[in-house]
Amino acid sequence: MTDIRNIVVLTGAGISAESGIDTFRDAGGLWEQHRVEDVATPEGFARDPDLVQRFYDARREAVQKVKPNAAHEALARLDAEWEGDLLIVTQNVDDLHERAGAKRVLHMHGELLSALCSACEARHSWSDTLFDQPACPGCGEQALRPDVVWFGEMPYEMERIYTALRRADLFVSIGTSGAVYPAAGFVRDAREYGARTLELNLERGEGSYWFDESRQGLASHLVPDWVANLLAG
Ligand code: APR
Repeated sequence: MTDIRNIVVLTGAGISAESGIDTFRDAGGLWEQHRVEDVATPEGFARDPDLVQRFYDARREAVQKVKPNAAHEALARLDAEWEGDLLIVTQNVDDLHERAGAKRVLHMHGELLSALCSACEARHSWSDTLFDQPACPGCGEQALRPDVVWFGEMPYEMERIYTALRRADLFVSIGTSGAVYPAAGFVRDAREYGARTLELNLERGEGSYWFDESRQGLASHLVPDWVANLLAG
């Protein structure tokens, strides 16, 4: 793959599964434990803010007890050694990519360790709870919500993502079911712009048909292998 210079990597919950973070749609996943409408929509938040805040408080606490795994570490190595363009677009709201050392990371669905003020729209690093309605450090209003993108809301930095997809020579999808748009459509966008496409996932995702190549297995095995081969040139 010597003609590869610009790479876009899309990651999903599957890359963090081996670190002990539940995925959404696998057996026993988050969407089996909670109704999406109750905990991941603006309407659900308006209806029962306490339920939603406690749901994300529990996830925020849990993510601080786990560690990055070999798949996160391999992408951090790629980030450090790859001289071309690289953008790791993650659907995940955990900070495991950054804790593994990756820098070129974009959180399109937001971050658990950030609070967004609905009054002044400021963002604040946040590792504590929000159900007790703390005041916004900026404007003092009790209007802080989880800085995550709920269903029906616009994902973050879409322009930057599409710019990277337009320039990509290689698009790699890791640990995502391909069930949620717009992320699920990135493989077709990348193809349209001439990129090679590779899926690394435990099982074939919903958009697997659109990939030039699909490898099944654990992310902690597939990703280090792929990165080592790529860097070996
Ligand atoms: N290694 C590789 N892949 C794995 C592993 C693993 N250890 N464990 C699970 N997977 C795969 C599953 O086979 C599945 O295809 O990861 C995928 C996880 O899919 P989802 O649970 O649907 O998570 P994701 O694709 O990230 O969800 C997308 O949906 O609920 C919303 O906003 C939320 O960002 C999320 C979006």
